[in-house]
Amino acid sequence: MLSKIIPYMRCPKCTGTDLSREPAGLSCKTCRTLYPMRSSILDMMGNEKEEVITPFQRIMQTPPIVAIYEKIWRRIGYYLASSRSFSREMQTVIEHARGKHGERALDLACGPGVFTRPLARLSDGLVIGLDLSMPMLLRARKCLQKEGIQNAQLIRATAFHMPFADSTFQYVNCCGALHLFDRPETALVEIARVLDSKGFLCVQTTIRPARSAGIAYFLERFIRFGFFNEEELKKLLHQCGFKLIESQRNRISFTFLAKPVT
Ligand SMILES: C[S@@+](CC[C@H](N)C(=O)[O-])C[C@H]1O[C@@H](n2cnc3c(N)ncnc32)[C@H](O)[C@@H]1O
Ligand SMILES: [Zn+2]
Repeated sequence: MLSKIIPYMRCPKCTGTDLSREPAGLSCKTCRTLYPMRSSILDMMGNEKEEVITPFQRIMQTPPIVAIYEKIWRRIGYYLASSRSFSREMQTVIEHARGKHGERALDLACGPGVFTRPLARLSDGLVIGLDLSMPMLLRARKCLQKEGIQNAQLIRATAFHMPFADSTFQYVNCCGALHLFDRPETALVEIARVLDSKGFLCVQTTIRPARSAGIAYFLERFIRFGFFNEEELKKLLHQCGFKLIESQRNRISFTFLAKPVT
């Protein structure tokens, strides 16, 4: 699967596009960085020291949370945020992707591959699952293998410097993560860069609750679990070059489909 994405990759360090497959991984001919392949996951994190790992992200990478994330944590968290079941959200996200995933789709901040697997099942093209957490990616790899999914490749990288050339993907999915990013605006600009001008972006994120402001304040202040203001998020999307096509608000959960402004 890696060979299918290499022609569309670029070095996150020097932005060079001359990358070649080596036995140990992928090497950039311009800056001579070798990006290692670990357990069939390509590690393109580059300089990890520049990455801000928030307390919430740290919690999420611990083995007990990784183990229960998909079956327990995500479902309960989503129900608390939206008062509806996670399987309904899954349906919404998959309906957005149907017929739009194209040859190359990206599941950004894929975690253990909650959406990577259904996207890959839906698509006869390639699906890239990208995340900065190795424990999450190892879990994703195990689940992909268990389900015999062959058309997905996992890459460790940051949403802020993605290792792909401009306009690589026809579809980008980013669920449960935009509000956790240290710099969501940088991630949106980067998504706009790697997305084809005719492509689509699907996001599920959280909106700051009007009530329970104390809990929201605690989550934001102490563990950096973020929330958006709905109007500000719409403005931000516009500033980053997207127009909203469809959106759905379920209590504090907000799911939308957007397109690049052309
Ligand atoms: C709550 S999980 C969402 C997983 C999955 N997409 C879902 O909807 O259940 C958030 C994920 O975002 C990843 N993440 C956070 N910051 C990131 C960044 N800057 N670049 C890439 N992934 C990031 C975390 O490692 C974590 O796996
Ligand atoms: Zn390079």
